[in-house]
Amino acid sequence: MTLQVTRATFDEVMVPNYAPSAIIPVRGEGSRVWDKEGKEYIDFAGGIAVTALGHSHPTLVNVMREQAGQLWHLANVMTNEPALRLAKKLTDKTFADRVFFANSGAEANEAAFKLARRYAFDHFYPEKHEIIAFNKSFHGRTLFTVSVGGQAKYKEGFEPTPGGIKHCDYNDIEQLKAIISDKTCAVVIEPIQGEGGVIPADKEFAKQVRELCDQYNALLVFDEVQSGVGRTGTLYAYEQLGVKPDVLTTAKALGNGFPVGAMLATEETAKSLAFGTHGSTYGGNPMACSIAEAVIDIVDTPEVLSGIQERHDIFVAGLKAINEKLNVFKDIRGMGLLIGAEVVDSLAGKAGTFVTAAAAEDLFVLVAGPNVLRLAPSLIIPKEDIAEGLSRLEKAIEKAIANA
Ligand SMILES: Cc1ncc(COP(=O)(O)O)c(C=O)c1O
Repeated sequence: MTLQVTRATFDEVMVPNYAPSAIIPVRGEGSRVWDKEGKEYIDFAGGIAVTALGHSHPTLVNVMREQAGQLWHLANVMTNEPALRLAKKLTDKTFADRVFFANSGAEANEAAFKLARRYAFDHFYPEKHEIIAFNKSFHGRTLFTVSVGGQAKYKEGFEPTPGGIKHCDYNDIEQLKAIISDKTCAVVIEPIQGEGGVIPADKEFAKQVRELCDQYNALLVFDEVQSGVGRTGTLYAYEQLGVKPDVLTTAKALGNGFPVGAMLATEETAKSLAFGTHGSTYGGNPMACSIAEAVIDIVDTPEVLSGIQERHDIFVAGLKAINEKLNVFKDIRGMGLLIGAEVVDSLAGKAGTFVTAAAAEDLFVLVAGPNVLRLAPSLIIPKEDIAEGLSRLEKAIEKAIANA
């Protein structure tokens, strides 16, 4: 007999590092999700920018079933066909020549940061080990990635953290100029800051970051863990910035919920992760790579990519309409289907109340920090679901502000 569990079981047996909502979904299809009682929800959160093709996409379910009946795992003592096919597609479609597979965004970043240090070690001198990242950035929760991330709260109590890391404000080239030097081995940047509040990089800023990296022989690392795989309307967001990185990390939507991450690199930089320098037991396993290959095949098509801007416009128009009635947002921004709505000053710190109120109206949404409501739905969310979800959101916000 199946063991009966409830939300209370979480508080008994799980490490308390999360505070999950009272809802326990058991099934999803497209952008709709159901709990055990059969209650239906609309999903504007996409598992935090992960389920880019919605829940239980039939092609992905078939690919997974087929691969599950063939081969699950070998470890990297042998390669496998799905990994090779996926790597071939990722390199054909991007600036990159080489791929390293990991299981998550943090691990892909860990590989990128280690590569940056190792590249400088191979080509320059020991003092050239500094990594520059941006305030409010988020790069994962391992000790190295919280240290590179620009949010002090994620490091607190975990010191001593890795050193040789500097931060400055995003979109402020003068601050970067003041701290970049011959000691810098890499500049790490999200093309659009996700967790930091859905803030896109200015094109001119990105261009100048590239120039500074070239001037100081530093690698430019784009963290596209959240912005990648179609999220912003192109396969990777860097395509819209007109700037090519040396290294790029991708995860989240790459597996549509199946854990997989990747670090993409140029031929020249990749050489520094020579045999034996880095590794992962699961990274690049055939299950993850077969699913990711199918995700890339589906996302990187004109049908899916062209639908993203169209849906962006519908969401933004809907949020503006809500704002005209309720006057709750001071800014609505984002790229593609990574959309942020920053609350007005009188609601500062209260974006989280919109999430709780939305759940009560059977809608999943996210925050990006205390002041920004974030939407990261499926890239193929049906337009009826957008309309229905926006009307639930309006009711939720109305109730949230009545109780504020
Ligand atoms: C930009 C960025 N980098 C890295 C990560 C970490 O990814 P993961 O949680 O898969 O380790 C995230 C997760 O939110 C992210 O948004």
